[in-house]
Amino acid sequence: MNKVEKWFPDVDKIWFNGELVKWEDAQIHVLSHGVAYGSGVFEGLRCYNTIDGPRTFRVKEHIERWRDSAKQLRMTIPFSDEELIDGINQTILENNLDSCYIRPLSFFGYHSLGVHPLDCPVDVVIATWPWENYLGADAKEKGVRCCFSPWIRVHSQMVPSAAKATGLYIGSMLARVDAIDKGFDEALMLDATGNVAEACTENIFVVKDGVIATPGLDSSILPGITRKSIIELARDLGYTVEVRSIARGEVYSANEVFLTGSAAEIKPVREVDSREIGTGKPGPITKHLMDEFSAIVRGENPKYAKWLDPVTSPSKVL
Ligand SMILES: Cc1ncc(COP(=O)(O)O)c(C=O)c1O
Repeated sequence: MNKVEKWFPDVDKIWFNGELVKWEDAQIHVLSHGVAYGSGVFEGLRCYNTIDGPRTFRVKEHIERWRDSAKQLRMTIPFSDEELIDGINQTILENNLDSCYIRPLSFFGYHSLGVHPLDCPVDVVIATWPWENYLGADAKEKGVRCCFSPWIRVHSQMVPSAAKATGLYIGSMLARVDAIDKGFDEALMLDATGNVAEACTENIFVVKDGVIATPGLDSSILPGITRKSIIELARDLGYTVEVRSIARGEVYSANEVFLTGSAAEIKPVREVDSREIGTGKPGPITKHLMDEFSAIVRGENPKYAKWLDPVTSPSKVL
């Protein structure tokens, strides 16, 4: 097996098929089905260091989406929800992290390399690591610069586009590489009908005349859990949020545009295809939602305590 360099010296363990193993020992066979065909499904969520200690954000919804994604690939994740949540918590605790990114992943493993995967075992992994400054160190304050990608978001008749499946990320990868090559921070993707879908790894919102809008599932988006949270939060704050098709031109002429995702959280967009968005600075509604969201993930808003779960583990007695 290859010598594996750890990403962070202090992050030592990965949960692999029910056991915590050393980071460098979490290895698989090169002929695993998921390696050849991208036949995996995964999640991405965060643990926040709140005023009450470490809390995972909407972990049950992430497990539910993980299972929904798996079902669409005819995959059964061979652990109960309790075992998976316990695995997440153990991995955070064992690595002594209080705020981090969490990457649950399951894929068809090593058995045979016919495209039909159902005889392959399902391997399950949970990794955690610190992941700050997604989309750039000053993205929160200054906003990100985006371009529309020449690659479109996969249509739901090609593959189940609402599944967070590893193979689907070839599209995100190509779009992101192209955007970075052209000097932008992130790419936006249209759907197969030419309407706006989402960014490579975030959902998109546009604001015009005080009204917030975001594309729906009919634009082949990933049903983002941050997106769902922001829709609920914005409505609770009294904003109108429309879930509807968005034309490309609406992005250019929006007063504000922002992206949402578990890794990115909320990131203002300051420019798209060399057109300044609004004043070219994060707009007031974006800033309002960012401030409210930050308070929620610090555990300072009891109304949304339901979104935060304590990181405790019966498998690891502290
Ligand atoms: C393609 C894509 N869209 C949207 C999102 C945002 O989803 P969430 O808010 O659940 O992280 C992600 C990130 O998971 C993504 O990869």
